Amino acid sequence: MADLHLTADRATTAESVAVDAALAAIGVDSALVMEDERLVRGGTHRRHARRHALLPALHALQTESGWISPGGLNYVAEVLQVPPAEAYGVASFYEMFRVDEAPGHDDDVVHVCVDAPCLEFAEAKIASLEAEGKHVHRSPCLGQCDRANANDGPALFIQGRQKANSVPADAPSLAGELWPLPQKHEPGLKLLKRVGRVDPTSLDSYVAMDGYKALARAFELGAEQVIEEVATSGLMGRGGAAFPTGIKWRGVAGADGEQKHIVANADESEPGTFKDRTIMENDPFALIEAMTIAGFAVGATKGWIYIRGEYPLATARLESAIEQARAAGFLGTAIAGAKSISFDLEVRRGAGAYICGEETALFNSLEGFRGEPRQKPPFPTTHGLFQQPTAINNPETLLNVLDIVTDGGAAYAASGTEGSNGQKLFCLSGHVTAPGTYEVEFGPTLREMIDVAGGVTGGELKAVLLGGAAGSFVGPDLFDMPLTMEATRAAGASLGSGVIMAFNEHTDFEAVCIRIAEFFKNESCGQCVPCRVGAVRQHELLIRSKGKVMNGELQLLEDMDRVMKDASICGLGHTASTAVRSAISLGLIGAN
Ligand code: FES
Repeated sequence: MADLHLTADRATTAESVAVDAALAAIGVDSALVMEDERLVRGGTHRRHARRHALLPALHALQTESGWISPGGLNYVAEVLQVPPAEAYGVASFYEMFRVDEAPGHDDDVVHVCVDAPCLEFAEAKIASLEAEGKHVHRSPCLGQCDRANANDGPALFIQGRQKANSVPADAPSLAGELWPLPQKHEPGLKLLKRVGRVDPTSLDSYVAMDGYKALARAFELGAEQVIEEVATSGLMGRGGAAFPTGIKWRGVAGADGEQKHIVANADESEPGTFKDRTIMENDPFALIEAMTIAGFAVGATKGWIYIRGEYPLATARLESAIEQARAAGFLGTAIAGAKSISFDLEVRRGAGAYICGEETALFNSLEGFRGEPRQKPPFPTTHGLFQQPTAINNPETLLNVLDIVTDGGAAYAASGTEGSNGQKLFCLSGHVTAPGTYEVEFGPTLREMIDVAGGVTGGELKAVLLGGAAGSFVGPDLFDMPLTMEATRAAGASLGSGVIMAFNEHTDFEAVCIRIAEFFKNESCGQCVPCRVGAVRQHELLIRSKGKVMNGELQLLEDMDRVMKDASICGLGHTASTAVRSAISLGLIGAN
């Protein structure tokens, strides 16, 4: 199939109908192209204008047939005027698309998470599912780490034919029953104040809980002043890079370009991270309002929520919320009665690729290309999505804007610590009594956060993986470190996306580290040699040494780490060895 020319395979009627419907839903008229422009075959005349529809079209095929059939891919390639080889290259890039007609391809596939903390329960679950005749796929973190425990086992995601949006049909309208919401009804919350209380399926419920007051205040302040308040607040990005949001927004507002974009990076795939899922499932209108304010501030009329493909409930709730907001005049033209202001939103599903959390890889994915990072500069503020000025933030970052606009940037800056302002969401998982998303004002120590989650289970606390697989293990000497940007930086660690994964003394750290190495090996996009080869070699080395890295191999590991850090294109390669090396220095693995 991987050819520059269409093969003789034809799509079934059901496949072409499914693709047409998916394209129509995003405003692409396939019939128009088929009738008027079907002359184009091969790679010379591809239609960039339609290419962004490739991922939705592939999702439609996968859902309809349980795989990306050659005939279906031909149809998509022809309709979108994408060379078949390139369409195949995109389809084969993503974990959720199957390009081979595997036996039982039209059955449900159960994705079983094999990352820590699901790891210790995964193999037993896989064995029992396979004994039942189920088709199992070993999956990286599914963003449900808060539900992994001895009773429920590892996190699961069921990808079914004709129901890729496998939203539980009986999903409760009021949240809280699917996954733990440990701080529900707790006073003093800001980011999570509505979670578990507001009905996420009802705009009326959101408005009744002060929804859209921040947007009204933003209109009173004016676009420039909104950016000024955000800058004054000192808000830093919560996705891991901690870049000042005010500076980013100023850059986009000042950039040349008629079309600007706001993108919510909701592809949270860092193992141990599930806070944005908590927000989107339980308070979707808040994200929509925050993005609308961002659009108003920087002069963007188009917003995109790029959400990971394994979040069907969050996707459904966001799509429903967008429809309701549009119907009520909060999206579209003349929003909320402001005649000159337009802003609209679209949700796009990722398809299982960790690298698409990297902002430029995300842009490529959204544009219909393989999710490979771009070289920077130029930066997204001037050359982002479709090479147009783009402000990209994650949902947690955006949610902070609501209180900043309502209460003022100075009030926000007065909260938290000297170098870390405001509230922070932490994802507690692993050997803690009550895993879940927790909100605190910046300041508590690591030990205090673990106590907030009910303390350690199963023995003494041995180590914490801070910041996710791209973060590092920290041991007892740092358990009393405040969880702030400045304190973690001084300690050579990182808050990353807010992952606190606790491990007790009985943990098999060799298995955890081998899995972390395997994760990076699998998730490297393969674009640059240091990362592509280094991640494989690191995994091989750990398997070969069974986690007991000896002197010579330690040197090799350090050399590879240096090369990956220095020469990789993006953060994946820069951080692929960090956790493993920290485990060695803490003596969690290795036998020097
Ligand atoms: Fe298993 Fe996150 S869902 S580690």
